[in-house]
Amino acid sequence: MRWEYVGNIVIIRHFPGMEAHEKEIGEVYARELDAKTVCVDMSGVSGEFRVPDMKVIYGTETEAVRRENGVLYRFDVTKVMFSSGNIEERERMAKLDCTGETVVDMFAGIGYFTLPLAKFANPDTVIAVEKNLDAYEYLVSNIEENGVSDRVTPVLGDNRNMHSEALADRVLMGYVQKTREFIPYALRIIKPGGVIHYHDTFYVNGHEGEIRKVFEEALGDRRFEILAIREVKSFAPSVSHYVADVRIL
Ligand SMILES: C[S@@+](CC[C@H](N)C(=O)[O-])C[C@H]1O[C@@H](n2cnc3c(N)ncnc32)[C@H](O)[C@@H]1O
Repeated sequence: MRWEYVGNIVIIRHFPGMEAHEKEIGEVYARELDAKTVCVDMSGVSGEFRVPDMKVIYGTETEAVRRENGVLYRFDVTKVMFSSGNIEERERMAKLDCTGETVVDMFAGIGYFTLPLAKFANPDTVIAVEKNLDAYEYLVSNIEENGVSDRVTPVLGDNRNMHSEALADRVLMGYVQKTREFIPYALRIIKPGGVIHYHDTFYVNGHEGEIRKVFEEALGDRRFEILAIREVKSFAPSVSHYVADVRIL
């Protein structure tokens, strides 16, 4: 049976027929793994806000605290998602050199990428935009708890409503599947020479050509340079989640 620890809460993947025994299953997991709460991930995440579908089968406390590479992430597992599989990308954000930069995180969530970048990559400012109030409230408290309030400005709202032009040296687009719809808004806020970290899912075969095509179509005459492409994690059979670092010239 697949399970994972998210903070101090155990999450089990739903399987058919488990309902009849879920009380016992919850008790066994709680005892064996010393967990305060056990939840069942019923159907992954859905909707614009990527809200999870969790059923609590043991315990009552659903707020998790995850400590990862010197960053603390606090969040409610029933209200906001947390992708354990993106750990290497969170780590990579911490290792960037963002000295003197203004960074915009267009899909900040609870601070998945904002927090490691703000804490360790030495940016001047990070503007972290999040539309979902539940995620935003955790973003605000995580900024405080990680001691980065002096350089992170959380913004509650839709990133398409940011009207400043040529503001950012770096833009984080951590939102798969619909990401390309947001490229025009990223292009408005990026400075010439700035870098976009573009996340999306692509077929493994041919993903490099597809990523190039997405940017050619979005940029028209404006030039760009793909600096690197990394696989973040497997997403579905033959499909992976990639991040492309793209310099806009
Ligand atoms: C959950 S994160 C994606 C995963 C994340 N990058 C990770 O590493 O786990 C995406 C966030 O973008 C937010 N979001 C979606 N559309 C948005 C928009 N137009 N403006 C601002 N935030 C948005 C969602 O509410 C969600 O919290």
